[in-house]
Amino acid sequence: MVSPLKIGPLSIDPPVWQAPMAGFTNFAFRKIVRRFGGAGLLTTEMVSARGMRQIEARKGDLPERLWGVEDEPRPLAVQIWDNDPGLLAAVGHRLAHQLHVSVVDLNFGCPVKAVSQSAQSGSYLLRYPDRIAEIVARVVEACAPVPVTAKIRLGGSRESINAIEVAGAIEAAGGAAVTVHGRTAADRFRGSADWDQIARIKPHLKRMPLVGNGDLQTPEDVVEAFRRWSVDGVMIGRAALTKPWLFRQIRCALASEPIPPEPTLVEQRELLLDHYGMIVDRFGPTRGTIQMRRYACHYAQGHHGCRAFRSQIATAATPQQFAEAVDRYFPT
Ligand SMILES: Cc1cc2nc3c(=O)[nH]c(=O)nc-3n(C[C@H](O)[C@H](O)[C@H](O)COP(=O)(O)O)c2cc1C
Repeated sequence: MVSPLKIGPLSIDPPVWQAPMAGFTNFAFRKIVRRFGGAGLLTTEMVSARGMRQIEARKGDLPERLWGVEDEPRPLAVQIWDNDPGLLAAVGHRLAHQLHVSVVDLNFGCPVKAVSQSAQSGSYLLRYPDRIAEIVARVVEACAPVPVTAKIRLGGSRESINAIEVAGAIEAAGGAAVTVHGRTAADRFRGSADWDQIARIKPHLKRMPLVGNGDLQTPEDVVEAFRRWSVDGVMIGRAALTKPWLFRQIRCALASEPIPPEPTLVEQRELLLDHYGMIVDRFGPTRGTIQMRRYACHYAQGHHGCRAFRSQIATAATPQQFAEAVDRYFPT
């Protein structure tokens, strides 16, 4: 029913992309997603190009957010942000030619103050399509033949929606795909993603694929999105934090195959504990337990006793306390 998503030389099949989510889509999460399969392309958390440069210069090391990237399976996209074309090109070059990532994705959508207002990057740049074009052109040149993509929102605010213009600038500068989150920066996460606005961009693009993003929750939502709107691919974020197996279900739905059932509570418990194990191995018991609280809350979403689980897990500081909460709410 749907065709693979063409991103430069890559054929992303199914055309379903796991969204970058800062604080969540690290190596452990991506490993869990890969275990179930069904996501055509996975993405890291967004990485500050400036921060990466500084850390490499100081410690000769990659930033923590690139944990696992060197050895993990491909295809893999790494998302970077800044507003300096030369800096982004240098970091893009390193990612493409030394770390051999599959896609370098540029963030022009982040509305968080530290990125947009303070660093004049992310969604701040939506006001300056020429600057975006300059960045894309420089990064494309530095990364070739590795494709460079961009992720945007509809505009800065409802009054200044300019995604058609921005997407056109990205395409003209050599971008290999654009992902559009159907909200404006001012919307943050309020209201619903406006897929009509996303689809309105399509007739203005000559060759560059359009990826729609926002609020897709179920395999049926994805099938419906491809049916209703002329997008070449979709990107899924938050729903996969609660159901990392969602991509597998989506793949089946798109192929008109029976949708696999949700894992049982026992299987979900095992998944949560496996995930926890990976995080603790990497970050140690104290930091790992604190970091895992937010994942555990997502895993528990919609379950009986979810609120009580959340409040218990929110104070878990040791592996023992974590295990107690899991035992109580995810019984074997
Ligand atoms: C916790 C969180 C972190 C996010 N971090 C990023 C990020 O690093 N880069 C980015 O482009 N978008 C980021 N986003 C936005 C998502 O990629 C996505 O565009 C948004 O959540 C809408 O898609 P969804 O409704 O499928 O979640 C983040 C979203 C959330 C909820």
